Amino acid sequence: MTEKDKEMVVTPWEVSGDIDYDKLIEQFGVQPMTADLAERIAKHAGGMHLQLRRGVYLSHRDLDWWLGEYEKGRRVGLYTGRGPSGHVHLGHLLPWLFCKYLQDAFDADLYFQMTDDEKFLHNDELTLEQAVSYTYDNALDVIACGLDPEKTFIFSDTDHIGEIYRLGLKVAKRVTFSTVKAVFGFQDSTNIGMIWYPALQAMTCFLQSVREGENIPCLIPAAIDQDNYWRMTRDIAEKMGYYKPAQIHAKFLPGLAQGGKMSASQPDTAIFTTDPPRKAAQKVMRAFTGGRDTVEEQKRLGGKPEVCNVYAYYYFLFEEDDDELLERERLCRSGGIMCGECKRRLADRVKVFLTGFQEKRERARDVLCDYLMK
Ligand code: TYM
Repeated sequence: MTEKDKEMVVTPWEVSGDIDYDKLIEQFGVQPMTADLAERIAKHAGGMHLQLRRGVYLSHRDLDWWLGEYEKGRRVGLYTGRGPSGHVHLGHLLPWLFCKYLQDAFDADLYFQMTDDEKFLHNDELTLEQAVSYTYDNALDVIACGLDPEKTFIFSDTDHIGEIYRLGLKVAKRVTFSTVKAVFGFQDSTNIGMIWYPALQAMTCFLQSVREGENIPCLIPAAIDQDNYWRMTRDIAEKMGYYKPAQIHAKFLPGLAQGGKMSASQPDTAIFTTDPPRKAAQKVMRAFTGGRDTVEEQKRLGGKPEVCNVYAYYYFLFEEDDDELLERERLCRSGGIMCGECKRRLADRVKVFLTGFQEKRERARDVLCDYLMK
């Protein structure tokens, strides 16, 4: 790998290179997450979510304010989304599972935007019909995360345009071409659909307020790749009479290969929720680990969990018990477990998880309509 390959790129459309989260916090001008904020969330939720305990959320903007508003007895809202360009992978599930936890804890409505327009405009190979059909396929995954149908409003940019266009226009009028060029790196060759699109991702921050006729503080849980949108939105929110949206930013679940995040554009190194469990298990068995070249070296020197993707999956999703996780780390470092065995155990967990998730996904077909924004 050359130095150039390793250079960090984090945009809504590309995440590559060696990711340095401290540097991102500085570059994006966001606040590091704190133990105090995690505790405040946990107090309202009645327990600390694995993703909070393990530092999956690295940073935020105005989370303290959003929590403060709730603590004063005000209603608060949530917003997240998906660009439906293919099947959903485990990385996408991280913020959605966290939304379920926050929805229950704060009794909050969740607006869930399906950006079929964004993906169609951005991806040369994707037809509009495919993007729209992935919208409803991916919605099954969102529902399978256990969200409340009474409090979840899933909408497609293309199918719901009648309800969102006016608010999108009001945002668009406030944002200049030079701003989107600076924030997103758009160029003269960028198609004009993409240049307009950020107005639609921004408008959802205010959608609940508009629909309810009252200003409602909005929090966006997502990985940090979406941050460009929020920088743009926060600049115009108050001028439009709304609160600036708050954010809580997740780290990326890595792919199965060395380096980089889990990405649908590298299907062999991503685990999709629609993968047959046996196929997913086979992918795990081929995963990059922090193991040594030989069994003898592994026993003598131990493995390196800090660079191991298999360990990362236990850490992010598949080992709920903190003591068990510590024991796994100890065994690995001391050479007490070989990578093959560790992968086999993870593969079993992935199979169990996918089997259960796919059952929920199938059941979601019958209730999909209950979740669509009306
Ligand atoms: P999309 O479809 O690229 O990603 C959907 C969500 O998954 C997060 N994500 C990940 N999280 C952890 N590990 C990974 N490997 C990983 N890969 C993706 C993304 O941060 C995102 O939260 N433009 C958006 C759609 C959108 C949206 C939003 C997302 C519209 N409004 C509000 C978040 C919040 C998109 O294409 O997401």
